[in-house]
Amino acid sequence: MSGPRAIILAAGKGTRMKSERPKVLHEICGRPLLWYVVRALRAAGVGAITVVTNPQIESYVQLLELGMARQDEQLGTGHAVQTALAAMNPGRGPILIASGDMPLVPPGLFRAVLDAVDERTVLALVTARMPLPSNFGRVIRRGKVVDRIVELRDCTPAERDTDEMNAGIYAFDESALRGAVASLRNDNAQGEYYLTDTIEILVRGGKSVKPIVADDHRTVLGINDRAELALAGRSMNEHLCREHMLAGVTIVDPATTYFEPGVEIGRDTTIHPGTIIGGATVIGQNCEIGPRSRLRSMRVGNNVRITESVVTDSSLGDDVSVGPFAQIRNGALLHRGVRIGNFTEVKASELHENVKANHLSYLGDATVGRNTNIGAASITCNFDGKDKHRTTIGENVKIGSDTMLRAPVTLGDGATTGAGSVVIRDVAPGETVAGNPAKPLQKKVES
Ligand code: UD1
Ligand code: CA
Repeated sequence: MSGPRAIILAAGKGTRMKSERPKVLHEICGRPLLWYVVRALRAAGVGAITVVTNPQIESYVQLLELGMARQDEQLGTGHAVQTALAAMNPGRGPILIASGDMPLVPPGLFRAVLDAVDERTVLALVTARMPLPSNFGRVIRRGKVVDRIVELRDCTPAERDTDEMNAGIYAFDESALRGAVASLRNDNAQGEYYLTDTIEILVRGGKSVKPIVADDHRTVLGINDRAELALAGRSMNEHLCREHMLAGVTIVDPATTYFEPGVEIGRDTTIHPGTIIGGATVIGQNCEIGPRSRLRSMRVGNNVRITESVVTDSSLGDDVSVGPFAQIRNGALLHRGVRIGNFTEVKASELHENVKANHLSYLGDATVGRNTNIGAASITCNFDGKDKHRTTIGENVKIGSDTMLRAPVTLGDGATTGAGSVVIRDVAPGETVAGNPAKPLQKKVES
């Protein structure tokens, strides 16, 4: 892979999350923290990425197709980088170093720190002015130039008052990095090998270190506990809402509308409050979605209305209307103009154009032809206690209220069922059945 290389530090336990799950696999907006770091690095033009791992995150790192270097004992950030370098072939060009717990870093900041490394500058690092108190390492300057970084626990009182912090994002010339990490020592308050000591080592060796000051310190905050996780989630969601709004989507209340990355929405669609949209969902133009709806992995056409409903893993054609209080799931396919009303569930069924099921019904494992009307409280009894069976209903069928269709069963085009029918045998085209079990109605003979 071309482009500069990067190392992501992610072996730490993340103790303050108080979790069985490793910190970088905790999620905001439906994706692990680590996923966002990788996405931003890719957007910044980074090629090969090596993640410093612990065994718990390795399968996820493999899924992202990244290189990895296992750090068996967490002896500090300097040791983590040594571990990564040992797993990487020597190369040229700058190496970027970041942590797996910083999901909000914009690609431009990664790019800026990479671009700052040249023949004269062997190290560029991101700093940020932050309100005190802060746990970040302090950037100590001598005059204007960066002299060293001191961890909070090793600070003198005067150093503690410094408000320029080390963000933990660096770009190093590779040979300078290899040389400096080899000479790290662990004689500090935490007994760790600090990557940050490389700054002083390089400066004492007469090398020049360039600070890149971040515009907004909030974008470089690492996540340490669940309160910070929630704040980062909110800020990522604000960003996703903003992108949709700038692309022509009306979001009535971004504070109560939640997205995952990767959702696509057409122009002039309106998203009402309390709506959560995730998975690889694609929504067309001029739709009204919400309030209080959940969409996941959906394909939605144009002019669709979804109100107070849960719709997942399914496809809705143009002019479909769903809800209030409906559920569409598991590969349902609703063609143009279908209307699904309150307390109706559609599962793994294909509903052709203009089918209506407006009240209290269940359609599971069914095929329903065009213009058919499903009366209130009608149900496909698709499960016999052991297996699922299909129900096939033709076009222009009238299913009377409270009809039970015991699958497998087929109703021909133009058939009718009376209210309260229990249909256990196939119904011929044009035939009317009623009763329990449903039988064809005798045509009245004129006397
Ligand atoms: C580090 C910096 C500090 C900076 C801060 C920014 C050092 C010594 N300090 O402190 O100056 O202000 O980041 O967030 O570098 N990790 C490993 N293996 C280890 C230790 C850490 O992979 O042995 C990983 C962690 O998982 C984490 C990252 O490195 O993702 C940073 O480690 P952490 O212990 O959180 O460093 P800080 O104390 O925050
Ligand atoms: Ca940290």
